[in-house]
Amino acid sequence: MLERLEPKPADAILKLIDEHKNDPRAEKVDLGVGVYRNAEGDTPILNSVKKAEHWLVGVQSSKAYLGSRGDVAFCDAIQSLVFGAAATAGRVVTLQSPGGSGALRVGAEVALKANPNACMWVSEPTWNNHAPLLGEAGIKLQAYPYYDLDSNSIRFDAMLESLQQAAAGDMVLLHGCCHNPTGMDLSPTEWNQVADVVAARQLIPFIDLAYQGFAENLDDDAYGVRLLIKRVPEMIVTQSCSKNFGLYRDRVGALSFVAADEATANTTMSQALSTVRTMYSLPPDHGAAIVAHILGDQALRNEWLQELAEMRDRLKEMRQLLVPALAEAAPSHDFSHILRSTGMFCYLGVTAAQVERLKSERGIYLVGSSRINVCGITPANVDYLAESIASVL
Ligand code: LMR
Repeated sequence: MLERLEPKPADAILKLIDEHKNDPRAEKVDLGVGVYRNAEGDTPILNSVKKAEHWLVGVQSSKAYLGSRGDVAFCDAIQSLVFGAAATAGRVVTLQSPGGSGALRVGAEVALKANPNACMWVSEPTWNNHAPLLGEAGIKLQAYPYYDLDSNSIRFDAMLESLQQAAAGDMVLLHGCCHNPTGMDLSPTEWNQVADVVAARQLIPFIDLAYQGFAENLDDDAYGVRLLIKRVPEMIVTQSCSKNFGLYRDRVGALSFVAADEATANTTMSQALSTVRTMYSLPPDHGAAIVAHILGDQALRNEWLQELAEMRDRLKEMRQLLVPALAEAAPSHDFSHILRSTGMFCYLGVTAAQVERLKSERGIYLVGSSRINVCGITPANVDYLAESIASVL
């Protein structure tokens, strides 16, 4: 049986981890996978997380199963982090998931149970793994224009025009904040316009909120979610604690369904739990227990908020270092769009061939689309980076 399988190419983002690791050059730079790094190039465990882990080891008395929904305290805490006061009682149900990817897949599976012909509109471009994750579940995917490579800005009119073509009941995948890969987010005014179209066309928002807290702050980054819950009867929201709690490999995320009424929300949850049972039975506990403890303990929560702000500020500072360095190294090129991007990523705006040259000639690793992870920039490597980029233009 297995000999019938065709080899699959490695994931375009994840393969960069090994390529960078195996590169012997001392000056190599990793701008690839979306993992936070500090000025030393490390991804340390947050202090708030370390403290919560110590606490957990001390108090945890059992590893018995919790159930397919996961840790209820985690689900409640995450629900209020994402929806805030907008979480109208009864309409929202939340379950724990193995990372944001697990939430995306379970959300897609439940959507397909409700509508076997489910169609979803996704931004062009979007995160590399959206199409495989959602498409292989069986969702039909359509693209709406999002980013203009020439002007390095959002193709907002084209996006709205495209969504006007969507049929009632179609889902629209929206990035809650820190659009991956472009880093270009909708403004509040643009969110309002999107909400008008989504409500008028009776579309169902499917919001991927993987970077809450990485753009402006927890509340502003949830603007779209909190707006849309007031405008539409149904929506699906996926959330990840990989980045904002730095819990990448512990796989912590959440999936929320918003329904028109409490009875429908509860039925949807029963379908989600049965889906989970047939996929992975129960989510991993450790990371979610840590998040629940941090969010429920005022001192730890404050410490985490501080650490989150430090990560966010570093991303802004690195953009402010890179752009002038590029202006000096490549004066005839305009890289100012990088300052308008938010979160972990933006497009550098070079060709796939130039990305290859950066890798082979300079040991600089980034995704073929020219997406860079801004965390890979440090005060120590920014000049090398700028000079290397200029050398391939
Ligand atoms: C990324 O986009 O680099 C991250 O979300 C990590 C991943 O799984 O692709």
